[in-house]
Amino acid sequence: MKLPSRCRTVLRYTVAFLVIGLGALLGSTPLGAQHWTDPAVEAKIDELMARMTLAEKIGQLNQYSSNFDITGPAPEGESQRLRHEQLRTGLIGSMLNVNGAAETRAVQEAAVTNSRLGIPLIFGYDTIHGYQTMFPVPLAETASWDLEAIELSARIAATEAAAAGLHWTFAPMVDISRDSRWGRIMEGSGEDPYLTSVVAAARVRGFQGDDLAALDTLAACAKHFAGYGLAEAGRDYNTVDISQDTLHNVVLPPFHAAVEAGVATLMNAFNEIGGTPATSSVYLQRDILKRDWGFDGFVVSDWGSIGELIPHGVAGNLRDAARLAIQAGSDMDMESAAYVGHLADLHDNGDVRTDLIDDAVRRILRIKFHLGLFEDPYRYSDVEREKRVILSDEHMAASREVAKKSIVLLKNDGVLPLKKSGTLAVIGPLAADKDAPLGSWRAKAITDSAVSLLEGLQAVDGVTVRHAQGAALGVGEKTFVRATKLNTDDRSGFKAAVKAARGADTVIMALGEEAFQTGEGRSQVEVGLKGVQMDLLREVLAVNKNVVVVLMNGRPMAIPEVVESVPALVEAWHLGSQAGHAIADVLFGDYNPSGKLPASFPRHVGQEPLYYNYRNTGRPGPSDMVFWSHYTDMPNTPLFPFGFGLSYTTFSYGEPSLSTDEIHQNGEVQVTVKVTNSGDRDGTEIVQLYVRDLVGTATRPVKELKGFERVELKAGESRDVTFTLTAKDLAYYTPRGIWEAEPGEFDVFVGTNSVDVQSVRFTLR
Ligand code: NOJ
Repeated sequence: MKLPSRCRTVLRYTVAFLVIGLGALLGSTPLGAQHWTDPAVEAKIDELMARMTLAEKIGQLNQYSSNFDITGPAPEGESQRLRHEQLRTGLIGSMLNVNGAAETRAVQEAAVTNSRLGIPLIFGYDTIHGYQTMFPVPLAETASWDLEAIELSARIAATEAAAAGLHWTFAPMVDISRDSRWGRIMEGSGEDPYLTSVVAAARVRGFQGDDLAALDTLAACAKHFAGYGLAEAGRDYNTVDISQDTLHNVVLPPFHAAVEAGVATLMNAFNEIGGTPATSSVYLQRDILKRDWGFDGFVVSDWGSIGELIPHGVAGNLRDAARLAIQAGSDMDMESAAYVGHLADLHDNGDVRTDLIDDAVRRILRIKFHLGLFEDPYRYSDVEREKRVILSDEHMAASREVAKKSIVLLKNDGVLPLKKSGTLAVIGPLAADKDAPLGSWRAKAITDSAVSLLEGLQAVDGVTVRHAQGAALGVGEKTFVRATKLNTDDRSGFKAAVKAARGADTVIMALGEEAFQTGEGRSQVEVGLKGVQMDLLREVLAVNKNVVVVLMNGRPMAIPEVVESVPALVEAWHLGSQAGHAIADVLFGDYNPSGKLPASFPRHVGQEPLYYNYRNTGRPGPSDMVFWSHYTDMPNTPLFPFGFGLSYTTFSYGEPSLSTDEIHQNGEVQVTVKVTNSGDRDGTEIVQLYVRDLVGTATRPVKELKGFERVELKAGESRDVTFTLTAKDLAYYTPRGIWEAEPGEFDVFVGTNSVDVQSVRFTLR
């Protein structure tokens, strides 16, 4: 039917209005997420700023690392002396890597008592998965799909760090990564924007609580804004060149979720993105973050990333770099000394406006006020509390709980759970390793302090344990900054391992990666078992087929031969301080495994980047001819898909049903499925919901996670699980540059992982 032109115009405006309204809901227009702007605080900031000189203001934007715990290349000698001078004269606003109640008190005192205005420093530190009580690395913890557990782990990390005088953690890392070559995949939540978003919000809640000034909270920092996890070829710091579609639909949602959860700070990224380094990106920091999302905390640069604008080739010198970064909205300069060295001159020459500097200063002071630092700059530096809180029994118990929930059972031909009797041979480079489970980014973890797998198994009554290492994993230094030498080709331990394996009731083989094989600067072109580990496994299998492989690692691994050749495989990641006990809990069935993979495991590194939410292509196949999108030497499919994980019980799913097969933009549809624990053990299933938008203006992923629920079911018990979908869940950032749900048909998939699903269809009008 053809409408009169006036009606058409009215209709067009009505639709545009609805679209903008929906966009506002979803974050493409100002949201006013003003979490930190409180009139009483702003008045105090006004009063303070009125008394500050330009140099003192710029000092607030300047952050240095201490020499105590370096997480990047730090200067020495003369420049250290200069820094001490700057500390006393109010030219430093923040320090990172100063930690410990006594240490932070001393440094704070030097700043507060000597400088003219006595503005307290804010102390930041990478407290990523624990401060001293270590929790599973973030990728592992995400495998729990347990938001309460994740929030608790962040709160405990905050409690310990705050007791050591810290105010601020550089976490959570919310970078989506689809490439297991990238060493920092261990630090995030994997490949899915929805899962990463809800985990990001849980971590922000955990770190920050609802009061930044409380003694068990820290200011959080969502990083790295933006695109860092999509570095080309998985090589750390490498170029990122992604579409607007990928930026808005994949990369940004977890940051937006963190902002909505009230994150106090963001860190920008080392990488360039489409020709502009993130650190000098006006589009990312000013337009999207501060204008569209209304973010009113502050942005810290990554370590030296302002200075790196020079090698990136967008700044000719450090002065230029400082100008570009401040104009782009990077508020605090981590370790480039670009602002403290050049902003005053840039300002005086009219190259940088006063209001840009003032805005950055205000943002930083705002968070300092909320932390309660102006009331008492030493409030967090309490030696007694530090002793009492850190490594408490309660924290250790929580670490074990979270660790066992993070374990993913990948294969079980009936060997598991083990009986608490008979003889176990515990073999492999990681079997007795007390360090690897602490993982990378381990803050103040004590080297070699984790409960090893061997210790965990030895603590179980009734079993006889014999141990042989078989092969060494590496001879590298256990340090964050030095390159690690990986693995040896030494087979001298094989004989003893084979002897231990022969005749044992079960062999537990601990294989995988050492702690610093993943983390910053730890990209690899191979993601399988390094060194002689596979040879060791083959020799052990030749004398005893009853092998359970326990994998300890920080990245998805390509291990097809392991999967084929052993009857049971347990993904135990780097689980933290209580690793050995948590693994034993699962191996003996004291805890029925419930974890699910947050990232696809490849069959071969050549499949990377590999992710479940891919686009269909014009030639999805399969076909008898070669002309379809595939490899001729390997299936397209992963070794284990996203969302995969087994249990010692079985779950069966009824057919999903819909409350309606047609909804409108303001409507909702309920998707219900009956889930039954059809085995003979109590267990927890993570029921997953995916959708596919069948026809869009832009191509849409073949599946997108939109919800999940952790359901505890007694043996034989059934429960109806219901999800609600609204237009907001169906919306995406379209080529029109807005978030909108396009009318048409949608498939809904419900199931136990991203592949084993059943589907129903409905229409959005
Ligand atoms: C560089 C890393 O990229 C960042 O994540 C970390 O917070 C800083 N170094 C400080 O250690």
